[in-house]
Amino acid sequence: MNHNEEMTCFLEQAKALIESETDVIANLSNITALIKDFYGTRCSWAGFYLMKDGQLVLGPFQGKVACTRIRIGKGVCGTAAHTKTTQIVKNVHEFEGHIACDSGSNSEIVVNLMKDEQVLGVIDLDSYQFAAFDEEDAWMLEKLSEIVSQIL
Ligand code: SME
Repeated sequence: MNHNEEMTCFLEQAKALIESETDVIANLSNITALIKDFYGTRCSWAGFYLMKDGQLVLGPFQGKVACTRIRIGKGVCGTAAHTKTTQIVKNVHEFEGHIACDSGSNSEIVVNLMKDEQVLGVIDLDSYQFAAFDEEDAWMLEKLSEIVSQIL
């Protein structure tokens, strides 16, 4: 399977998971497992932060213990939510205000979960590798975000 086919397969699996269950926590939990499986060692942490009372609050994830609340505009996640744009950070040590939940993390990608122009949360992936994520990952994770946003 080439990489495009792998990404298509990943998105089809995500759709199938979500279509077969209505519970949000169950679905988000399985999606984090799917992400970790897909990325393997390229991804050290994968999870969701969900918008609650104007803050991003930790949701289902796979990886080490993480910070539970992120203010809008703070860190990579808060910047994604504030600007409503995907953040691809090749070197987190050069990102002003990066929130280091795991000191081993070197790069990160954050994609918004949006509905009607509103940010409902974010999908966050970290890596111990530098520049682990690129535009192709952004494309796939934004498609995933469209799938996931439908059940939020
Ligand atoms: N690094 C993120 C915080 C969340 S952890 O990576 C799980 C940030 O700067 O927003």
